[in-house]
Amino acid sequence: MVSFNTYNFLLVALVGVSFVQCNIEYDDIPTNVLVTTETAHCFDEARGAQCLTQVKAEGGKLTVNFSLNTTACDSECQTSKGYKYYQVKLCFSDKSIEERPWRKHKDEIKKDKQCKKSLKDDIEFTAEGGSLEYEFDDAQPGATYYVTVFTKNNDGDYLSYGTTLGSTGYFEIDPYQPVDDGLKTGAAIMSAISIVILIGCFVNEHQQKKE
Ligand SMILES: *[C@@H]1O[C@H](CO)[C@@H](O)[C@H](O)[C@H]1NC(C)=O
Ligand SMILES: *[C@@H]1O[C@H](CO)[C@@H](O)[C@H](O)[C@H]1NC(C)=O
Repeated sequence: MVSFNTYNFLLVALVGVSFVQCNIEYDDIPTNVLVTTETAHCFDEARGAQCLTQVKAEGGKLTVNFSLNTTACDSECQTSKGYKYYQVKLCFSDKSIEERPWRKHKDEIKKDKQCKKSLKDDIEFTAEGGSLEYEFDDAQPGATYYVTVFTKNNDGDYLSYGTTLGSTGYFEIDPYQPVDDGLKTGAAIMSAISIVILIGCFVNEHQQKKE
């Protein structure tokens, strides 16, 4: 007969197993994906650094190339692990997450806000890999970034990854600046000035009447 305790133990073990599978951390998986971006090689993540390629937030394009390092994982390894998809993610540089808790790094991949934005999910896996051209929009914050590419199995579990940190490094997003922003600022300053002038005239008139 299965005692209550054994039952409880099994339940805890089961929860434990699913916990492990759901909470994959970067350190749990190998780095065997080779990733490059078609940007100048730049390892200086400070915004405005000379070597950084500037990509416009609005309509700017980024090409990411990725493949599997087949020395690290041969075809037998690929089959046994169940490599099925690539996922391409955009990551803020360490400098671009400073003092921004909403971009906080988490070791657990699914909770990591540093690499939150997925540029493309579920690209069919081949060892030769492929190329992704991504077009940004005006919502993309100005910051320095790198790219991480993951491999996944059929269940969407992360199997391995690679970043541009050892290949092409960082690039910068040049933030969207609406043209009429300057005009709006100008108009605001003008109306502020005219209010000051009005007050000035009023005070002046008042004083002249008194004298
Ligand atoms: C990226 O892949 C595309 C398409 O295969 C290729 O034309 C391009 O030369 C590659 N870029 C680099 C830097 O390898
Ligand atoms: C590919 O993996 C092998 C074995 O782990 C490693 O020695 C080699 O440096 C890797 N190649 C690249 C380009 O990272």
